[in-house]
Amino acid sequence: MSVTKTEFAYQHCISPDCSATCGINEALTACPRCGGLLDVAYEWNRLPVPASLREFESRWANRRNPLDFSGVWRFRELLPFAPDDKVVTIGEGQTILQQSDAVGRYAGMNASRMYLQYEGLNPSGSFKDNGMTAAATHACLVGANTAACASTGNTSASLAIFASTTQQFRVIVFVGSGTISYGKLSQALDYGSTTIQILGDFDDALLRVREVCDEQGIYLCNSVNPFRLEGQKAIIYRVLEGLGWECPDWIVVPGGNLGNSSAFGKALLELQQLGLVDRLPRLAIINATGANTLFQLYSQQQLRWNEGRVDAGTIDRFYEEMDASGRRASTLASAIQINRPVNLVKSLRSLEICDGVVREVSDQEILDAKAQVGAGGFGCEPASGASVAGAKLLRREGVISPDDRVVCILTGHGLKDSNATVEYHSPQAEQDQNESGAHGAELRPYANRPIVVENSLDAIMDVLRNID
Ligand code: F0G
Repeated sequence: MSVTKTEFAYQHCISPDCSATCGINEALTACPRCGGLLDVAYEWNRLPVPASLREFESRWANRRNPLDFSGVWRFRELLPFAPDDKVVTIGEGQTILQQSDAVGRYAGMNASRMYLQYEGLNPSGSFKDNGMTAAATHACLVGANTAACASTGNTSASLAIFASTTQQFRVIVFVGSGTISYGKLSQALDYGSTTIQILGDFDDALLRVREVCDEQGIYLCNSVNPFRLEGQKAIIYRVLEGLGWECPDWIVVPGGNLGNSSAFGKALLELQQLGLVDRLPRLAIINATGANTLFQLYSQQQLRWNEGRVDAGTIDRFYEEMDASGRRASTLASAIQINRPVNLVKSLRSLEICDGVVREVSDQEILDAKAQVGAGGFGCEPASGASVAGAKLLRREGVISPDDRVVCILTGHGLKDSNATVEYHSPQAEQDQNESGAHGAELRPYANRPIVVENSLDAIMDVLRNID
Protein backbone atom coordinates (compact mmCIF):
# COMPACT_ATOMS: atom_id res chain seq x y z
CA MET A 1 0.00 0.00 0.00
CA SER A 2 1.27 3.47 -0.77
CA VAL A 3 2.20 6.11 1.77
CA THR A 4 -0.33 8.31 3.53
CA LYS A 5 -1.02 11.69 1.96
CA THR A 6 -1.95 14.14 4.65
CA GLU A 7 -2.82 17.20 2.61
CA PHE A 8 -6.25 15.76 1.87
CA ALA A 9 -7.37 15.82 5.52
CA TYR A 10 -9.29 18.68 7.10
CA GLN A 11 -11.62 19.46 10.02
CA HIS A 12 -15.30 19.80 9.35
CA CYS A 13 -18.25 20.97 11.47
CA ILE A 14 -20.85 18.21 11.75
CA SER A 15 -23.78 20.64 11.62
CA PRO A 16 -25.21 20.76 8.07
CA ASP A 17 -26.32 24.34 8.68
CA CYS A 18 -22.73 25.39 9.36
CA SER A 19 -20.38 22.94 7.62
CA ALA A 20 -17.37 25.15 8.38
CA THR A 21 -14.03 23.62 7.43
CA CYS A 22 -10.60 24.20 8.98
CA GLY A 23 -7.13 22.89 8.31
CA ILE A 24 -5.69 19.96 10.25
CA ASN A 25 -2.93 22.12 11.65
CA GLU A 26 -5.31 23.87 13.99
CA ALA A 27 -5.87 22.58 17.53
CA LEU A 28 -9.66 22.90 17.91
CA THR A 29 -12.21 21.29 20.18
CA ALA A 30 -15.26 23.06 18.76
CA CYS A 31 -16.28 24.63 15.48
CA PRO A 32 -14.92 28.20 15.45
CA ARG A 33 -18.08 29.39 13.67
CA CYS A 34 -20.97 27.70 15.50
CA GLY A 35 -19.39 26.00 18.53
CA GLY A 36 -20.55 22.55 17.37
CA LEU A 37 -18.55 19.34 17.22
CA LEU A 38 -15.88 18.79 14.60
CA ASP A 39 -15.00 15.73 12.53
CA VAL A 40 -11.72 14.97 10.86
CA ALA A 41 -12.71 14.54 7.21
CA TYR A 42 -10.84 13.37 4.12
CA GLU A 43 -10.94 13.80 0.38
CA TRP A 44 -11.05 10.04 -0.02
CA ASN A 45 -11.08 10.14 -3.81
CA ARG A 46 -7.60 11.69 -3.74
CA LEU A 47 -6.21 9.24 -1.21
CA PRO A 48 -4.78 5.74 -1.56
CA VAL A 49 -7.50 3.60 -0.05
CA PRO A 50 -7.19 -0.21 -0.05
CA ALA A 51 -9.51 -2.12 -2.34
CA SER A 52 -10.25 -4.61 0.43
CA LEU A 53 -9.74 -4.72 4.20
CA ARG A 54 -7.76 -7.92 3.64
CA GLU A 55 -4.93 -5.80 2.25
CA PHE A 56 -4.13 -4.77 5.83
CA GLU A 57 -3.14 -8.37 6.58
CA SER A 58 0.16 -7.84 4.74
CA ARG A 59 1.22 -5.76 7.77
CA TRP A 60 0.92 -8.64 10.23
CA ALA A 61 4.30 -9.94 9.11
CA ASN A 62 6.01 -6.59 9.56
CA ARG A 63 5.81 -6.11 13.30
CA ARG A 64 9.27 -4.52 13.62
CA ASN A 65 7.87 -1.37 12.05
CA PRO A 66 6.12 0.39 14.97
CA LEU A 67 3.38 1.66 12.66
CA ASP A 68 2.60 -1.81 11.37
CA PHE A 69 2.76 -3.21 14.92
CA SER A 70 0.28 -0.62 16.25
CA GLY A 71 -3.32 -1.80 16.32
CA VAL A 72 -4.28 1.72 15.25
CA TRP A 73 -1.70 2.74 12.65
CA ARG A 74 -1.61 -0.51 10.78
CA PHE A 75 -4.92 0.85 9.43
CA ARG A 76 -3.38 4.26 8.72
CA GLU A 77 -4.97 4.65 5.28
CA LEU A 78 -8.28 4.91 7.18
CA LEU A 79 -7.09 7.80 9.37
CA PRO A 80 -4.68 9.53 7.01
CA PHE A 81 -4.02 12.83 8.77
CA ALA A 82 -0.38 12.36 9.81
CA PRO A 83 2.80 11.62 7.89
CA ASP A 84 4.24 8.26 8.91
CA ASP A 85 7.36 9.78 10.44
CA LYS A 86 5.28 12.02 12.74
CA VAL A 87 3.17 9.29 14.32
CA VAL A 88 3.43 8.96 18.11
CA THR A 89 2.83 5.33 19.05
CA ILE A 90 3.51 3.22 22.14
CA GLY A 91 2.35 -0.10 20.70
CA GLU A 92 -1.33 0.46 21.46
CA GLY A 93 -4.12 -1.78 20.24
CA GLN A 94 -2.69 -5.28 20.80
CA THR A 95 -6.11 -6.38 21.92
CA ILE A 96 -8.03 -9.62 21.65
CA LEU A 97 -11.46 -10.55 20.37
CA GLN A 98 -12.40 -13.56 22.47
CA GLN A 99 -15.34 -15.81 21.76
CA SER A 100 -16.90 -16.60 25.12
CA ASP A 101 -19.62 -19.20 25.37
CA ALA A 102 -19.71 -18.82 29.17
CA VAL A 103 -20.56 -15.12 28.94
CA GLY A 104 -22.79 -15.85 25.94
CA ARG A 105 -24.80 -18.35 28.00
CA TYR A 106 -25.18 -15.76 30.74
CA ALA A 107 -26.54 -13.26 28.23
CA GLY A 108 -28.88 -15.86 26.73
CA MET A 109 -26.98 -16.39 23.47
CA ASN A 110 -26.49 -19.63 21.59
CA ALA A 111 -23.02 -21.18 21.47
CA SER A 112 -20.30 -19.33 19.56
CA ARG A 113 -22.30 -16.12 19.12
CA MET A 114 -20.85 -13.94 21.89
CA TYR A 115 -17.53 -12.14 21.43
CA LEU A 116 -15.69 -9.93 23.89
CA GLN A 117 -13.33 -7.24 22.62
CA TYR A 118 -10.74 -6.74 25.39
CA GLU A 119 -9.61 -3.14 25.12
CA GLY A 120 -8.25 -3.40 28.66
CA LEU A 121 -5.18 -5.06 27.11
CA ASN A 122 -3.90 -1.68 25.90
CA PRO A 123 -0.72 -0.28 27.51
CA SER A 124 -2.59 1.89 30.00
CA GLY A 125 -5.32 -0.71 30.49
CA SER A 126 -8.19 0.87 28.59
CA PHE A 127 -9.49 1.65 25.10
CA LYS A 128 -8.37 5.26 25.51
CA ASP A 129 -4.91 4.46 24.12
CA ASN A 130 -6.48 3.98 20.67
CA GLY A 131 -7.57 7.60 20.71
CA MET A 132 -4.61 8.98 22.60
CA THR A 133 -2.06 7.83 20.01
CA ALA A 134 -3.96 9.90 17.46
CA ALA A 135 -4.37 12.92 19.77
CA ALA A 136 -0.69 12.74 20.81
CA THR A 137 0.30 12.57 17.15
CA HIS A 138 -1.78 15.63 16.36
CA ALA A 139 -0.49 17.47 19.44
CA CYS A 140 3.05 16.98 18.17
CA LEU A 141 2.04 17.94 14.62
CA VAL A 142 0.77 21.29 15.86
CA GLY A 143 3.83 21.77 18.05
CA ALA A 144 2.10 21.53 21.45
CA ASN A 145 4.42 21.17 24.41
CA THR A 146 1.70 20.74 27.04
CA ALA A 147 -1.42 18.59 26.87
CA ALA A 148 -4.28 18.27 29.32
CA CYS A 149 -7.51 16.38 29.90
CA ALA A 150 -10.29 15.92 32.41
CA SER A 151 -11.04 12.36 33.29
CA THR A 152 -12.94 9.79 35.27
CA GLY A 153 -9.55 8.06 35.34
CA ASN A 154 -8.82 6.25 32.10
CA THR A 155 -8.26 9.21 29.80
CA SER A 156 -5.84 10.65 32.34
CA ALA A 157 -3.98 7.33 32.67
CA SER A 158 -3.72 7.12 28.91
CA LEU A 159 -2.53 10.67 28.35
CA ALA A 160 -0.06 10.29 31.21
CA ILE A 161 1.45 7.10 29.79
CA PHE A 162 1.88 8.69 26.35
CA ALA A 163 3.70 11.61 27.96
CA SER A 164 5.89 9.42 30.17
CA THR A 165 6.90 6.97 27.46
CA THR A 166 7.43 9.40 24.62
CA GLN A 167 8.72 12.42 26.60
CA GLN A 168 7.32 14.59 23.81
CA PHE A 169 5.13 16.85 25.93
CA ARG A 170 4.19 17.78 29.49
CA VAL A 171 0.84 16.68 30.86
CA ILE A 172 -1.69 18.12 33.30
CA VAL A 173 -4.64 15.92 34.17
CA PHE A 174 -7.80 17.05 35.92
CA VAL A 175 -9.81 14.50 37.86
CA GLY A 176 -12.84 14.76 40.12
CA SER A 177 -12.94 13.84 43.78
CA GLY A 178 -14.44 10.89 45.56
CA THR A 179 -15.22 8.59 42.68
CA ILE A 180 -12.03 8.03 40.67
CA SER A 181 -10.71 4.53 41.35
CA TYR A 182 -7.31 4.26 43.01
CA GLY A 183 -5.99 2.08 40.19
CA LYS A 184 -6.55 4.89 37.70
CA LEU A 185 -5.43 7.72 39.96
CA SER A 186 -2.27 5.75 40.77
CA GLN A 187 -1.45 5.55 37.06
CA ALA A 188 -1.54 9.32 36.53
CA LEU A 189 0.67 9.77 39.59
CA ASP A 190 3.02 6.94 38.71
CA TYR A 191 3.51 8.16 35.12
CA GLY A 192 4.54 11.50 36.53
CA SER A 193 1.83 13.79 35.22
CA THR A 194 0.78 16.91 37.10
CA THR A 195 -2.51 15.82 38.64
CA ILE A 196 -5.14 18.35 39.67
CA GLN A 197 -7.92 16.89 41.74
CA ILE A 198 -10.90 19.24 41.58
CA LEU A 199 -13.36 19.33 44.43
CA GLY A 200 -16.17 18.40 42.09
CA ASP A 201 -17.14 15.67 39.64
CA PHE A 202 -16.02 14.82 36.11
CA ASP A 203 -18.32 17.37 34.48
CA ASP A 204 -16.86 20.11 36.70
CA ALA A 205 -13.33 18.99 35.85
CA LEU A 206 -14.08 19.03 32.11
CA LEU A 207 -15.53 22.52 32.29
CA ARG A 208 -12.44 23.77 34.12
CA VAL A 209 -9.89 22.06 31.91
CA ARG A 210 -11.51 23.61 28.84
CA GLU A 211 -11.21 27.04 30.43
CA VAL A 212 -7.59 26.41 31.41
CA CYS A 213 -6.69 25.13 27.95
CA ASP A 214 -8.34 28.15 26.27
CA GLU A 215 -6.55 30.55 28.56
CA GLN A 216 -3.12 28.92 28.40
CA GLY A 217 -3.14 27.57 24.84
CA ILE A 218 -2.79 24.02 26.16
CA TYR A 219 -3.63 21.10 23.86
CA LEU A 220 -6.85 19.40 25.06
CA CYS A 221 -7.06 15.61 24.76
CA ASN A 222 -10.65 14.93 25.72
CA SER A 223 -12.94 13.39 23.13
CA VAL A 224 -14.16 16.81 21.94
CA ASN A 225 -10.82 16.67 20.18
CA PRO A 226 -11.79 15.09 16.84
CA PHE A 227 -8.37 13.51 16.36
CA ARG A 228 -8.88 11.32 19.42
CA LEU A 229 -11.94 9.78 17.87
CA GLU A 230 -10.01 9.04 14.67
CA GLY A 231 -7.84 6.67 16.68
CA GLN A 232 -10.82 5.04 18.36
CA LYS A 233 -12.17 4.04 14.94
CA ALA A 234 -9.48 1.35 14.99
CA ILE A 235 -11.42 -0.65 17.60
CA ILE A 236 -13.97 -1.32 14.87
CA TYR A 237 -11.26 -2.29 12.36
CA ARG A 238 -9.82 -4.79 14.82
CA VAL A 239 -13.24 -6.26 15.61
CA LEU A 240 -13.76 -6.85 11.89
CA GLU A 241 -10.23 -8.23 11.61
CA GLY A 242 -10.97 -10.62 14.50
CA LEU A 243 -14.06 -11.84 12.65
CA GLY A 244 -12.18 -12.47 9.39
CA TRP A 245 -13.46 -9.12 8.06
CA GLU A 246 -17.07 -10.12 8.53
CA CYS A 247 -19.55 -7.78 10.16
CA PRO A 248 -21.12 -8.84 13.47
CA ASP A 249 -24.86 -8.33 13.93
CA TRP A 250 -24.41 -6.18 17.03
CA ILE A 251 -21.77 -4.06 18.67
CA VAL A 252 -22.58 -3.28 22.28
CA VAL A 253 -20.67 -0.53 24.04
CA PRO A 254 -20.96 1.32 27.36
CA GLY A 255 -21.88 4.99 27.00
CA GLY A 256 -20.21 7.70 29.09
CA ASN A 257 -18.98 10.79 27.30
CA LEU A 258 -20.06 8.96 24.09
CA GLY A 259 -16.73 9.25 22.30
CA ASN A 260 -16.43 5.56 21.52
CA SER A 261 -19.92 5.18 20.11
CA SER A 262 -19.35 8.34 18.04
CA ALA A 263 -16.07 7.00 16.66
CA PHE A 264 -17.66 3.62 15.88
CA GLY A 265 -20.44 5.15 13.78
CA LYS A 266 -17.97 7.29 11.85
CA ALA A 267 -15.68 4.31 11.23
CA LEU A 268 -18.53 2.17 9.97
CA LEU A 269 -20.04 4.87 7.76
CA GLU A 270 -16.65 5.53 6.16
CA LEU A 271 -16.08 1.80 5.57
CA GLN A 272 -19.47 1.59 3.89
CA GLN A 273 -18.87 4.68 1.78
CA LEU A 274 -15.49 3.33 0.72
CA GLY A 275 -17.09 0.03 -0.28
CA LEU A 276 -15.03 -1.89 2.29
CA VAL A 277 -18.02 -3.48 4.06
CA ASP A 278 -21.28 -4.56 2.49
CA ARG A 279 -23.43 -4.18 5.58
CA LEU A 280 -23.28 -2.54 8.99
CA PRO A 281 -23.80 -3.98 12.46
CA ARG A 282 -26.46 -2.56 14.75
CA LEU A 283 -25.14 -0.50 17.64
CA ALA A 284 -26.32 -0.70 21.25
CA ILE A 285 -25.15 2.00 23.65
CA ILE A 286 -25.57 1.10 27.30
CA ASN A 287 -25.88 3.70 30.05
CA ALA A 288 -25.77 3.04 33.78
CA THR A 289 -29.17 3.82 35.30
CA GLY A 290 -27.50 6.38 37.55
CA ALA A 291 -25.89 8.20 34.59
CA ASN A 292 -28.46 7.88 31.85
CA THR A 293 -28.60 11.16 29.94
CA LEU A 294 -28.49 9.48 26.52
CA PHE A 295 -31.07 6.87 27.52
CA GLN A 296 -33.44 9.58 28.74
CA LEU A 297 -33.03 11.74 25.68
CA TYR A 298 -32.96 9.02 23.02
CA SER A 299 -35.21 6.31 24.36
CA GLN A 300 -37.65 8.34 26.40
CA GLN A 301 -37.74 11.73 24.69
CA GLN A 302 -37.09 10.39 21.18
CA LEU A 303 -34.25 12.83 20.46
CA ARG A 304 -32.83 11.95 17.05
CA TRP A 305 -29.97 12.93 14.70
CA ASN A 306 -32.52 14.34 12.28
CA GLU A 307 -29.98 14.78 9.48
CA GLY A 308 -27.78 16.83 11.76
CA ARG A 309 -30.55 19.20 12.89
CA VAL A 310 -30.77 17.86 16.45
CA ASP A 311 -33.39 19.54 18.61
CA ALA A 312 -31.16 21.65 20.87
CA GLY A 313 -34.21 22.84 22.87
CA THR A 314 -34.88 19.30 24.14
CA ILE A 315 -31.26 18.97 25.28
CA ASP A 316 -31.23 22.40 26.93
CA ARG A 317 -34.48 21.71 28.79
CA PHE A 318 -33.13 18.35 29.97
CA TYR A 319 -30.00 19.93 31.44
CA GLU A 320 -31.94 22.84 32.95
CA GLU A 321 -34.19 20.38 34.72
CA MET A 322 -31.17 18.31 35.81
CA ASP A 323 -29.55 21.38 37.37
CA ALA A 324 -32.78 22.71 38.89
CA SER A 325 -33.47 19.42 40.65
CA GLY A 326 -29.83 19.02 41.72
CA ARG A 327 -29.65 15.60 40.01
CA ARG A 328 -26.07 14.37 39.51
CA ALA A 329 -24.87 11.18 37.93
CA SER A 330 -24.22 8.41 40.43
CA THR A 331 -23.08 4.86 39.61
CA LEU A 332 -20.53 2.36 40.88
CA ALA A 333 -19.27 2.27 37.29
CA SER A 334 -17.32 5.45 37.99
CA ALA A 335 -15.81 5.60 34.47
CA ILE A 336 -19.23 6.44 33.03
CA GLN A 337 -20.50 8.64 35.83
CA ILE A 338 -21.14 11.61 33.55
CA ASN A 339 -24.00 14.14 33.46
CA ARG A 340 -23.44 15.98 30.17
CA PRO A 341 -21.87 13.70 27.57
CA VAL A 342 -19.95 15.98 25.24
CA ASN A 343 -20.37 13.77 22.18
CA LEU A 344 -24.12 13.41 22.58
CA VAL A 345 -24.91 14.76 19.11
CA LYS A 346 -22.28 12.66 17.37
CA SER A 347 -23.57 9.56 19.13
CA LEU A 348 -27.04 10.30 17.74
CA ARG A 349 -25.45 10.21 14.29
CA SER A 350 -23.95 6.79 15.07
CA LEU A 351 -27.31 5.52 16.28
CA GLU A 352 -28.85 6.69 13.01
CA ILE A 353 -26.12 5.11 10.87
CA CYS A 354 -26.29 1.77 12.72
CA ASP A 355 -30.02 1.51 13.42
CA GLY A 356 -29.03 1.75 17.06
CA VAL A 357 -30.69 1.30 20.41
CA VAL A 358 -29.93 2.73 23.85
CA ARG A 359 -30.60 0.98 27.14
CA GLU A 360 -29.88 1.56 30.80
CA VAL A 361 -28.73 -1.12 33.26
CA SER A 362 -28.54 -0.98 37.05
CA ASP A 363 -25.33 -1.16 39.07
CA GLN A 364 -26.42 -4.61 40.22
CA GLU A 365 -26.71 -5.79 36.61
CA ILE A 366 -23.36 -4.19 35.77
CA LEU A 367 -21.54 -5.88 38.66
CA ASP A 368 -23.13 -9.27 38.00
CA ALA A 369 -22.15 -9.06 34.32
CA LYS A 370 -18.65 -8.00 35.31
CA ALA A 371 -18.40 -11.05 37.60
CA GLN A 372 -19.42 -13.26 34.68
CA VAL A 373 -16.77 -11.70 32.43
CA GLY A 374 -14.24 -12.45 35.16
CA ALA A 375 -15.42 -16.03 35.60
CA GLY A 376 -15.63 -16.64 31.83
CA GLY A 377 -12.75 -14.57 30.50
CA PHE A 378 -10.04 -12.04 31.27
CA GLY A 379 -12.09 -9.76 33.50
CA CYS A 380 -13.00 -6.10 33.10
CA GLU A 381 -13.78 -3.00 35.11
CA PRO A 382 -17.37 -2.18 36.12
CA ALA A 383 -18.18 0.24 33.26
CA SER A 384 -17.26 -2.47 30.75
CA GLY A 385 -19.67 -4.88 32.43
CA ALA A 386 -22.44 -2.56 31.22
CA SER A 387 -22.01 -3.86 27.68
CA VAL A 388 -22.59 -7.50 28.70
CA ALA A 389 -25.46 -6.47 30.99
CA GLY A 390 -26.91 -4.51 28.07
CA ALA A 391 -26.60 -7.47 25.69
CA LYS A 392 -28.38 -9.66 28.25
CA LEU A 393 -31.18 -7.13 28.56
CA LEU A 394 -31.59 -6.79 24.78
CA ARG A 395 -31.62 -10.58 24.48
CA ARG A 396 -34.33 -10.80 27.15
CA GLU A 397 -36.36 -8.19 25.28
CA GLY A 398 -35.97 -10.19 22.06
CA VAL A 399 -34.21 -7.28 20.33
CA ILE A 400 -31.06 -9.41 20.03
CA SER A 401 -31.82 -12.93 18.88
CA PRO A 402 -29.91 -15.93 20.30
CA ASP A 403 -28.18 -16.60 16.98
CA ASP A 404 -27.05 -13.02 16.36
CA ARG A 405 -23.31 -12.52 16.42
CA VAL A 406 -22.71 -10.03 19.23
CA VAL A 407 -19.51 -8.16 20.09
CA CYS A 408 -19.41 -6.56 23.53
CA ILE A 409 -16.67 -3.97 23.91
CA LEU A 410 -14.86 -4.39 27.23
CA THR A 411 -13.42 -0.94 27.61
CA GLY A 412 -11.18 -1.28 30.67
CA HIS A 413 -9.00 -3.84 32.47
CA GLY A 414 -10.25 -5.66 35.56
CA LEU A 415 -7.38 -4.32 37.69
CA LYS A 416 -8.44 -0.72 37.07
CA ASP A 417 -10.94 -0.92 39.89
CA SER A 418 -9.99 -3.89 42.04
CA ASN A 419 -11.88 -2.35 44.97
CA ALA A 420 -15.14 -2.94 43.11
CA THR A 421 -14.16 -6.56 42.49
CA VAL A 422 -13.07 -7.29 46.06
CA GLU A 423 -16.16 -5.54 47.35
CA TYR A 424 -18.37 -7.79 45.21
CA HIS A 425 -16.70 -11.02 46.29
CA SER A 426 -15.80 -10.24 49.89
CA PRO A 427 -17.63 -11.84 52.82
CA GLN A 428 -17.59 -8.48 54.58
CA ALA A 429 -19.84 -6.97 51.92
CA GLU A 430 -22.29 -9.82 52.40
CA GLN A 431 -22.24 -9.37 56.15
CA ASP A 432 -22.88 -5.62 55.79
CA GLN A 433 -25.81 -6.29 53.51
CA ASN A 434 -27.31 -8.87 55.85
CA GLU A 435 -27.03 -6.49 58.75
CA SER A 436 -28.78 -3.81 56.74
CA GLY A 437 -31.62 -6.26 56.05
CA ALA A 438 -30.67 -7.06 52.46
CA HIS A 439 -30.13 -10.62 51.31
CA GLY A 440 -26.47 -10.94 50.34
CA ALA A 441 -26.79 -13.93 48.02
CA GLU A 442 -29.30 -12.05 45.91
CA LEU A 443 -27.26 -8.89 45.80
CA ARG A 444 -24.06 -10.75 44.88
CA PRO A 445 -25.28 -13.92 43.19
CA TYR A 446 -21.93 -14.63 41.47
CA ALA A 447 -19.70 -13.86 44.45
CA ASN A 448 -16.66 -16.12 44.78
CA ARG A 449 -15.81 -15.72 48.44
CA PRO A 450 -12.34 -16.41 49.78
CA ILE A 451 -12.43 -19.33 52.23
CA VAL A 452 -10.73 -18.45 55.47
CA VAL A 453 -8.92 -21.48 56.92
CA GLU A 454 -6.90 -22.10 60.02
CA ASN A 455 -3.16 -22.36 59.33
CA SER A 456 -2.97 -26.19 59.43
CA LEU A 457 -2.75 -28.88 56.76
CA ASP A 458 -5.66 -30.85 58.28
CA ALA A 459 -7.95 -27.86 58.27
CA ILE A 460 -7.03 -27.07 54.65
CA MET A 461 -7.56 -30.69 53.57
CA ASP A 462 -10.94 -30.71 55.32
CA VAL A 463 -12.00 -27.68 53.34
CA LEU A 464 -10.73 -29.08 50.03
CA ARG A 465 -12.55 -32.39 50.58
CA ASN A 466 -15.82 -30.52 50.89
CA ILE A 467 -15.38 -28.65 47.62
CA ASP A 468 -16.96 -30.34 44.63
N1 F0G B 1 -15.62 2.50 29.75
C1 F0G B 1 -14.53 2.97 30.37
C2 F0G B 1 -13.67 2.00 31.08
C3 F0G B 1 -14.25 4.35 30.37
O1 F0G B 1 -13.18 4.81 31.00
C4 F0G B 1 -15.13 5.23 29.71
C5 F0G B 1 -14.89 6.66 29.69
C6 F0G B 1 -16.23 4.68 29.05
C7 F0G B 1 -16.45 3.32 29.09
C8 F0G B 1 -17.17 5.53 28.30
O2 F0G B 1 -16.67 5.79 27.06
O3 F0G B 1 -16.86 8.25 27.08
O4 F0G B 1 -16.41 7.01 24.99
O5 F0G B 1 -18.65 6.86 26.09
N2 F0G B 1 -14.02 7.24 30.39
C9 F0G B 1 -13.66 8.65 30.27
C10 F0G B 1 -12.43 8.95 31.08
C11 F0G B 1 -14.78 9.58 30.47
O6 F0G B 1 -12.25 10.10 31.50
O7 F0G B 1 -11.61 8.07 31.27
P1 F0G B 1 -17.18 7.07 26.24
